[in-house]
Amino acid sequence: MHLAKQADWGVMTGRLPDLDDGHVQAWLDLVEERTGVVILPERKAFLMTGLKARMLDIGLDDYDSYYRLLSRDQAWSQEWSQLIDRLTVHETSFFRHAPSLQLLTQTILPGFVDRNTDVSRGFQVWSLGCATGEEPYTLAMVTQQYFDELGDGRRYGITATDISQPSLQTARLGIYGERRMRGVSKSLREKFCIELGDGQVQMADALRRRICFAQLNALHVDSFPLRNVDLIYCQNMLIYFPRFRRLQIIETLVTRLTPGGVLVLGPGDLPSWAHPEFTRVRFEGTLAYQRQAAVMASA
Ligand SMILES: C[S@@+](CC[C@H](N)C(=O)[O-])C[C@H]1O[C@@H](n2cnc3c(N)ncnc32)[C@H](O)[C@@H]1O
Repeated sequence: MHLAKQADWGVMTGRLPDLDDGHVQAWLDLVEERTGVVILPERKAFLMTGLKARMLDIGLDDYDSYYRLLSRDQAWSQEWSQLIDRLTVHETSFFRHAPSLQLLTQTILPGFVDRNTDVSRGFQVWSLGCATGEEPYTLAMVTQQYFDELGDGRRYGITATDISQPSLQTARLGIYGERRMRGVSKSLREKFCIELGDGQVQMADALRRRICFAQLNALHVDSFPLRNVDLIYCQNMLIYFPRFRRLQIIETLVTRLTPGGVLVLGPGDLPSWAHPEFTRVRFEGTLAYQRQAAVMASA
């Protein structure tokens, strides 16, 4: 390993040559094998930028050392989280996909309430590929609002996972700038957010304590100990994976749903999937599957 002196870093990465195509392919294969994320060879420049930036962060000045360290896996799983943070897009926003949220309030939550007359049974949600937290906080606001209007004291809990530690740190803090808050209505903002001043807003404790953020590589969903989930919300993450991996992940995920539970994907995340135990939920503009054992009203 070559550790660079801090003063040399700017010069160092400037001097680092780009990898040749053979080495690029080895890196792309390693990234795909460990994280499932596919980067096309045409996006070599994007890979190079991510690798160089990360090597600069940790003071490494040759690709081979970095490759060897990442290949060792266990000790470097934290490093994978940092590198993948550079190699994936974390674009997200509050209330990102309106039809899926309408599906939640018009079909999924009413169905859950009908199936569970015992009000002590909490609504369990898993937000997968939650990025910087806007998605799970949106689900929390919508669910809390729904239960408040229902008025029978029902509770919910959200587990929100992502591979990227930097994203999860932001999510846990729950502090967002004015621009990112644009999707949140005035009334929800007044109810669920704390104005910190200087254009910063924090999600209220009442929401934050309902969400547990955890690091999880989607390739390892089988080892994640979450069961009996009522809603799995997984949008804009599977697009990074080849189809066979998307199917592998989905097939495992759906086993974590309770009967009547629903998997909500992004509309383009998995064009066709069918399973004898699952029914496609017909709700315009959405892609969702319900585990059988309950009848879901269609819109
Ligand atoms: C575009 S964001 C989607 C955020 C949110 N779900 C939404 O729709 O707004 C994709 C997220 O997937 C995460 N991701 C990519 N590969 C992953 C993997 N192998 N395991 C877990 N998360 C991964 C990225 O870190 C990123 O935060």
